[in-house]
Amino acid sequence: MTVAENGKHLAHYSFQAIASYSIYRKSPNACAHNDHLSVEPNTQHMKTPRDFKILAIDDDPAFLRSLKRVLIAEPYQVITTTNPAQALLIMEEQRIDLVLLDLKMPQRDGLSVLEDMVKLYPDVTVIMLTGYGGVQEAVKALKLGAADFLEKPCPPSVLCKILANYYTIDQQRCSLKMTNRNRSFDYPDLVGESHEMQRLKALITRISASEAPVLILGESGTGKELIAKAVHHHSIRNSGPFCAIDCAAINESVLESELFGYEKGAFTGADRSTQGLIRSADKGTLFLDEIGELPLKMQAKLLRTLQEHEVRPVGSTKSQPVDIRIIAATNRNLEHEITNGRFRSDLFFRISAIPLLLPPLRERVSDIPLLVHHIMKCQSKETSRNISKEALQLLQGYAWPGNVRELENVLCRALAIAEQNTILPDDLPATIVVEKQVGSELSPVNDSLLAYEQSAIEKALQKTSNNKRKAAALLGISEATLYRKLKLFGLSN
Ligand SMILES: Nc1ncnc2c1ncn2[C@@H]1O[C@H](COP(=O)(O)OP(=O)(O)OP(=O)(O)O)[C@@H](O)[C@H]1O
Ligand SMILES: [Mg+2]
Repeated sequence: MTVAENGKHLAHYSFQAIASYSIYRKSPNACAHNDHLSVEPNTQHMKTPRDFKILAIDDDPAFLRSLKRVLIAEPYQVITTTNPAQALLIMEEQRIDLVLLDLKMPQRDGLSVLEDMVKLYPDVTVIMLTGYGGVQEAVKALKLGAADFLEKPCPPSVLCKILANYYTIDQQRCSLKMTNRNRSFDYPDLVGESHEMQRLKALITRISASEAPVLILGESGTGKELIAKAVHHHSIRNSGPFCAIDCAAINESVLESELFGYEKGAFTGADRSTQGLIRSADKGTLFLDEIGELPLKMQAKLLRTLQEHEVRPVGSTKSQPVDIRIIAATNRNLEHEITNGRFRSDLFFRISAIPLLLPPLRERVSDIPLLVHHIMKCQSKETSRNISKEALQLLQGYAWPGNVRELENVLCRALAIAEQNTILPDDLPATIVVEKQVGSELSPVNDSLLAYEQSAIEKALQKTSNNKRKAAALLGISEATLYRKLKLFGLSN
């Protein structure tokens, strides 16, 4: 189609005349950080606009027809539907790059459709559409993960400009994804070749172009911080800082000033201004370990920071801009904490876009030999130190309630007390020698975590209408693990 024809098309277009605008656009992060990346665009596999698939959902068929005419002329691929449920089915069947989603539809509220889309397809850009004056809902939608917001009717020129912008971002993401895919997982500190670890490594590589917050769930000592570092390492922020905060380790009285910084003179002893831990992660990743331990007052302040991309230091009237990606971790059942009023649900939704379930060590026994050799290499300078087959077997038969950290401690002790170069069964603690076999695969070391797992699995199944493959993908675990856990929780039928 020529430019002139294209123009003619637009002239026939019905929702063109009235001025409208994008109320607020989240900073397209994928773009914002590309300046410090030396990513060579892989033009061979570049998407053309014809490959860019837009799904539009609106209860007004006339509006959808006009929209389709304009967008096809660009020329994007366009699919339209008046039915939100059908939209989710379409997304299940084919790759969609961008969604235009009406906020008010008779069948289902656009915000709840948005919630499902963000959870199931965190990489898809969703732009909300609404009639005049829906600012409050717009803000809600942005908080839930919409990328942008457009008021109807929107002039085609504005709409096309915005879509062209997102098309460019998508291209950059694709090229970055391809670079990362080619690069594959490269974080040697994270040891493990079990099926579970391979799945996690693949997932980390796959989400490398995403800026969505990650919530790592796992028992104590499973390697949550290490996973967070691996996610940062593979992300587009990897030239920025990785800053870890253990929310449980900072005394509540100094937590606010530690996190948000303070102004000189804010309190006795504040003889100079400090930027705080959050701002020290600017342009990088902020890892909030044990986020479940954060007091409610701090949760409210943190939520404001995440929503507004600003930090207000203690004793200051001015906020400072901050650009961070959040990775949080917990070994608590946050949904349980929400029910008991100890954790804010809005903060939970804000931080949990991509959940990563880290299996306990007893569920990946095949990783133990690799971990043992890795840990021994790190702890002992002497290359001749070794471990006997019998001792290794005992380590593989133990339930490891303290996971990899406990394994590190056991090996540290064994290396210190072993009289020979080789670690023998006698060098291991009595508890390990006694507990020769893991009684059941899942001795309930941490009941609340198991309950959390069960509830996360149930929710994922609900969200995916019992589609096991989708549910496993949503949870970041393999289908086989999902089936195993369903059996364990008596949910197989
Ligand atoms: N897969 C792994 N490969 C190598 N080292 C590991 C692995 N998993 C954990 N570790 C090591 O085990 C120790 C505990 O890991 P980490 O601190 O990441 O666990 P965590 O889940 O954050 O623990 P906590 O819940 O106590 O904060 C660290 O020294 C880490 O390097
Ligand atoms: Mg930790």
